[in-house]
Formats: sequence, structure tokens, C-alpha cells
Amino acid sequence: MVLYDPVPMPTRRIALVGGLSAFASSACAASSSTLRVVSSASHRQFGAAIEPQHIEQDADFAGLVQQQCGLLTAENAMKWNQLRPSREQFDFADADRVAAIAGRFKVPMHGHCLVWHEANPDWLASDLSPRNARALLTSHIETVVERYAGKVASWDVVNEAVERNDRRPDGLRKSLWLEALGADYLELAFRAAHAADPKARLALADYGLEYDDEPWMVEKRGTMLILLRNLISRGVPIHVLALQGHLLGDRPAAFGQGLRDFLSAVADLGLEIFITELDVNDQNTPGSATQRDQAVAEIYGRFLDTVLRLPAVKSVVTWGLSDRYTSKSWFAPRADGATVRPLPFDRDLVAKPAVARMLRAFQLAG
Ligand code: G3I
Repeated sequence: MVLYDPVPMPTRRIALVGGLSAFASSACAASSSTLRVVSSASHRQFGAAIEPQHIEQDADFAGLVQQQCGLLTAENAMKWNQLRPSREQFDFADADRVAAIAGRFKVPMHGHCLVWHEANPDWLASDLSPRNARALLTSHIETVVERYAGKVASWDVVNEAVERNDRRPDGLRKSLWLEALGADYLELAFRAAHAADPKARLALADYGLEYDDEPWMVEKRGTMLILLRNLISRGVPIHVLALQGHLLGDRPAAFGQGLRDFLSAVADLGLEIFITELDVNDQNTPGSATQRDQAVAEIYGRFLDTVLRLPAVKSVVTWGLSDRYTSKSWFAPRADGATVRPLPFDRDLVAKPAVARMLRAFQLAG
């Protein structure tokens, strides 16, 4: 067992990291570093998605986030349903709380998300029309992006735009924005975001691109590449492909040459790659908590070993940092009633084997 307590925190917690390989334990012992420090040494950022109340009301968790994260994402506070109580109103209270936390921790934010088919307020679907959609979309994006310029360094401008099951030739999801504006809504959104903050890195984000052995994901990669090439050819200001990275703890870690080739093709377009919502769903992973933690660690490690070989991969954000706060506890509960364990730190904020494996992946990425 290795004592792993890189940076004294207000409420000092010794995290025991079991199962360290000799390399990782020497890395921890030698550099006594955090995911924040080790990712930075590999010229990348590591961060996590947070909810403001979890930082404001839990000093231990706040200390862990500050210790480990060099980048923060608002898990929900910057979505339409939180920002837009009505067509006439903006409510920035929760988003400002997250921005204040990032400011206090002296770290940038990744903004999530300006356009999505989910998490929209009830009034949007009924109010939106081809006539008002352009103004509604651009005014939302301009208002939000301008407000956080200088605090939010990058944005998920459009989230989950591809859905091949909607059977469009271009593979685009038949979202309310596509229905109202056609496929040009993507270009409109990116141009509005760029005009509002020319310094922000602008991402197209999606899930289901990670596994080499999943035919629909392999197909989606092809659709995504065509979409990216099309946007770039039209001079759309897009800088990043954001892979969400929601991985599964009960299937083989099929992150091999196919993923490397896909990410290389994205990089060859001149784009950076962000991993923006990394977690390992252990809802159906067999075994004890210890066994699940090992399985989850291996998935984190194998995925990061693959993606971090690409210099174009610039940041890794986990969708939460500790099992104490994960939407998977209600989103993907286990049938056996055991608590889910998808994140790098457990509910007691102790580093699980995943942390050592992630550190090693960043160290090996150099
Ligand atoms: O905060 C309210 C609470 O006051 C209320 O009592 C409760 C019951 O209605 O709802 C709470 O809000 C919930 C919110 O999460 C915070 O817990 C919303 O109903 C719920 O819809 C929302 O779910 C979020 C989901 O996106 C939809 O926005 C999850 O937390 C969040 O983890 C999830 O994240 C998404 C990414 O944004 C996009 N990629 C997939 C990823 C996972 O689904």
C-alpha cells in the first residue's frame, strides 16, 4: 500500500492507493504528484465536471478538486434548462457560482454546452420556429459566451449532433435545432460563439466514438470525419473534437488501432481533441467493489494509454471526480443495489486504483 497525499489539504486526508505497480508507486512516491501536476507535465490538462453545491457544501471534496484539477466543467449549470427560465430571461446564478469556484481555484473552465437536443427548458420546443430560431440561437450563444469570456477557455458548442438512427444521409440528429434551421445550425452556432469570444477554443462534442469493436461506433467515426471536413471546408471556426469518453466497465477495452487511426485523422484536419466526460460505467460490472475498482482502473488506463499517444489530445476531464457525487448513481444504478464506482476517487475521497493507472498513462505519454 502506498501513502499518497500529494498536497496537504485543509482537512488533510491520506488516500491509500492499493495495487500500485512498481512504476506507478515510484511515480507517486517520487513525484508525489496529482493528476493536475502529472497531466500538466505531459503538456495537458486534467479536470472534472462539478456541481457548485458539492464544492460549496463539502470542504473535503472541494479540497480534492482543487488538489487534482487544473480545469473545471459545469456539469449542468450552463445548459439551456438552467440558464433560460423563459424566452426573455437568463438566470446565471448557478453558472456564476461555478465560474467563481474556478476563479477561486485559479483554473480555466470548459463550457458545456451551447447547443444540445437535451436539457432544454419546456418553453423552447413550443416557442422555437424556423422564423425565430436563428435569432434565438445566436442571441443565446452571444450572451452566454460573452459573459464568460476569459473564464471559459473552450466550449462544447454543439453537443451530440450525430445520430445515424435518424437516417439522414448526412447522419445528423433530427434535433429541434436541425428541424428549425436545417444542417446550417451547426455553422451558425460556431460562428456566433467565435464572434462572441474569438479566443475560445470551439468544440463539436459527441459520445459513441471510443470502441473499435462496436460497428455503430465505427460508422459514427466515419460520419463524424465527413462532418468535420465539411465544416472546415466551409471555414467554420471549429478547433476541437470533444470525445465524451463514457466507457463501460463490463466490456473489453477495445481502444486500439481503430481509435488511434480515427484520432490521427481528426488531428490531420488540424483539430485538437479533448476528452470531456470520461467515466467508466460499472452498472453491470461483476464482482466486489475491489474487483470492480480494478476493472474500472484497467479501462481508464487502457483508454488513456491509447488516446494520450496523440499529441493532439490536449485535455482529459472526468464526469465527476469522486463516486460521492456521480449522476450514474441514479442514471445507471446497479441491480444488486451496490453503490456505483465509476470515478477515480471513492466516496471517501480516497484514490482508487484508477488514479495510479491514470497517472501512469500521463507519465508514459510524456
Ligand atoms: O437539480 C434538480 C433538483 O433540484 C431536482 O429535485 C431534481 C429532480 O427533478 O432534478 C435536479 O436536476 C437534475 C440534474 O441532472 C442535477 O442532478 C436534472 O433533473 C437531470 O436531468 C440532470 O441530469 C444531467 C443530464 O446530463 C441531463 O442534463 C446529469 O446530471 C448529467 O450528468 C448529464 O450529463 C450528460 C452531459 O451533459 C452530456 N453527455 C452525457 C452526460 C451523461 O448523461
